[in-house]
Amino acid sequence: MKISYGGDYNPEQWDQEKWEEDIELMVSTNVNLVTLGVFSWARLEPSEGVFEFGWLDDILGRLDAAGIKVDLATATASPPPWLSRRYPETLPVNDQGVTLTTGSRQHYCPSSPIYRRHARELTRMMVDRYGGHPAVSMWHVNNEFGCHTSRCFCEQSARSFRTWLEAKYTTVAALNESWGTSFWSQSYASFDEISVPGATPTWKNPSQLLDFERFSSDELLACYLNEANVIRESYPDAQVTTNFMGLFKGADYWSWAPHLSIISDDNYPDPHDVGGAAAAAMSRDLMRSLKSGQSWMLMEQAASAISWLPVNARKPPQQMRALSYQAIARGSDSVMYFQWRQSERGAERFLTGMLPHTGTRSTSWRAVQTLGNELGALDAMVTAPVPARVAMVFDWESWWSLEEDANPANLDYLREVTQWHRALFDMGITVDFIQAGAVPEGYDVVIVPTLFVASDGELKALDDYVRGGGQLLVTYLSGTTDRTARVRQDGYLGPLSQTLGLAIDEFAPMAVDASARYGTAAKLSGDLVGSGFSSVWAETLLIDGADVVATFDDGELPGSPAITRNNVEDGVAWYVATSLDSTLRRRLLKALGLIPVIVRAEDSDATVEYVGRGDVEFVINHDQVARTVTLDLPHSPSVEHVEVDPFGVVCRSRGTAAFGSVGSIST
Ligand code: GLA
Repeated sequence: MKISYGGDYNPEQWDQEKWEEDIELMVSTNVNLVTLGVFSWARLEPSEGVFEFGWLDDILGRLDAAGIKVDLATATASPPPWLSRRYPETLPVNDQGVTLTTGSRQHYCPSSPIYRRHARELTRMMVDRYGGHPAVSMWHVNNEFGCHTSRCFCEQSARSFRTWLEAKYTTVAALNESWGTSFWSQSYASFDEISVPGATPTWKNPSQLLDFERFSSDELLACYLNEANVIRESYPDAQVTTNFMGLFKGADYWSWAPHLSIISDDNYPDPHDVGGAAAAAMSRDLMRSLKSGQSWMLMEQAASAISWLPVNARKPPQQMRALSYQAIARGSDSVMYFQWRQSERGAERFLTGMLPHTGTRSTSWRAVQTLGNELGALDAMVTAPVPARVAMVFDWESWWSLEEDANPANLDYLREVTQWHRALFDMGITVDFIQAGAVPEGYDVVIVPTLFVASDGELKALDDYVRGGGQLLVTYLSGTTDRTARVRQDGYLGPLSQTLGLAIDEFAPMAVDASARYGTAAKLSGDLVGSGFSSVWAETLLIDGADVVATFDDGELPGSPAITRNNVEDGVAWYVATSLDSTLRRRLLKALGLIPVIVRAEDSDATVEYVGRGDVEFVINHDQVARTVTLDLPHSPSVEHVEVDPFGVVCRSRGTAAFGSVGSIST
């Protein structure tokens, strides 16, 4: 099997004479897979029920003759103007009641039966015509579901929301109980009275909001299934995917993952962002975890600049290469781009392509070509697993609920998760993500960052994990509400209180200072972690047996416990009642026995990574300066010093002596 290399191919934007050149150049750069037809609905069905497939037949034939496989899109991502004009009720409405119109893309309400019917019909035509085509190796359903329109507030969405609620609760009495509608006189006499949470005078019902988030994610998934099922009806074994967007708030990808044959992801780190590579690593770890370690596909990245940031930084060739290897090292079996040939018109004309405006003379083309020609060295890694020592719970419902307005502070779920991941990334320790309620196996540590919404069963599963000998680290606000958004009456941590040997007394979030959104820092000191700073959050604890590892030194709670540890049967449960700075996070993780693979000075700001996949170990330098990385690997007799060029990638087969260039490994 081969690493897939290629990108979105949009031949409909070009005259036919360019197609021959496209294919020749694709062959010259070892492109072996293209995603075809993503935005071609208007070209394929120029008016209702009138289809023009000749051009697609032609290009598929040419790609096939060149030995290039196709990830064929269902072409439903951007409805043609005739559909929106003839059926204006398919247009989405935003939370201020404004109808979003044509002229960009994704202008459809996910709940619209008319949109879904037309999308299904087009998919059926595509499947009947191309399902058996020798070039078609996989199907690409729609595109980045919810990217622009993940929540719709139109009348149809309101009707569909009511249907969804009725299926969930059966009776309106059950809904009233679950939503706590006696607060502010919100009791509903029938499902017909319920609306989508659009513009309101003030704070909305948190339980209603949480259900609306679930409903909206489910509606997007229903759109995916609307098309995926058509493909699978005819070709039950077809490879079917849709491109995810990393840590995307609009869709709970845990619930989507079982419906995809293979996970695929689009990733666009800002080349100017020094932390961009670490954030990309986190998305890649999530993608690998969504199907329990199964390899995934990097479906889109930019060859150089993107076009939708305030400043569209150039991505130097070596940086593009480093990020591409990062994806493979973290479980991707492909390196793909948006898009093959850079557009000359349209809203993304300044987003570079594999073949940019400057053509084959350009630096970025040469980088794309060089990478295409060297990736073959890693073909033997396809499907190889990426072992991880740490698991981290990631929970979309906690993300949604924690960031509603009616909460104890202005909290940022992703920031807390990201900072734990970053600390481990800096230590060279690979992380798997797991769902709340999963039974973690084979990890040295399980981290539960701010699991705000959790059921008793999910908290009990963590307790069982500790009692069975596991090591657990839980952070502030976990278990505060159940999955209906109702605050726990048995103490905010629920069943975890016993595991942790403490209870929460009172919340004491830190002040928000105008210049620092996350509030003032409190000084922490403690035996195991030394001293340092924390911010955002604090709370007073009632200790019921836990050891206090660190306390707040100043701020509003001097002397109050901030980090605790509790031995329970064979395991250990740690609690962190605040948001730690990066040095403290790393020190605490070391205190949990996680020996860093990357030995770094505390004040080092290097963005370098170590990650192993299958039999190969990678060291990747994401900085524009050369780095010497010190590695302390359990399987090496002594500490090693590895030189890595600016944005350099070195690797070796485990057990061989030295790190070298990618071409030097034998997989
Ligand atoms: C997304 C989309 C593409 C393109 C790129 C670049 O990933 O899937 O169609 O718009 O972004 O912006």
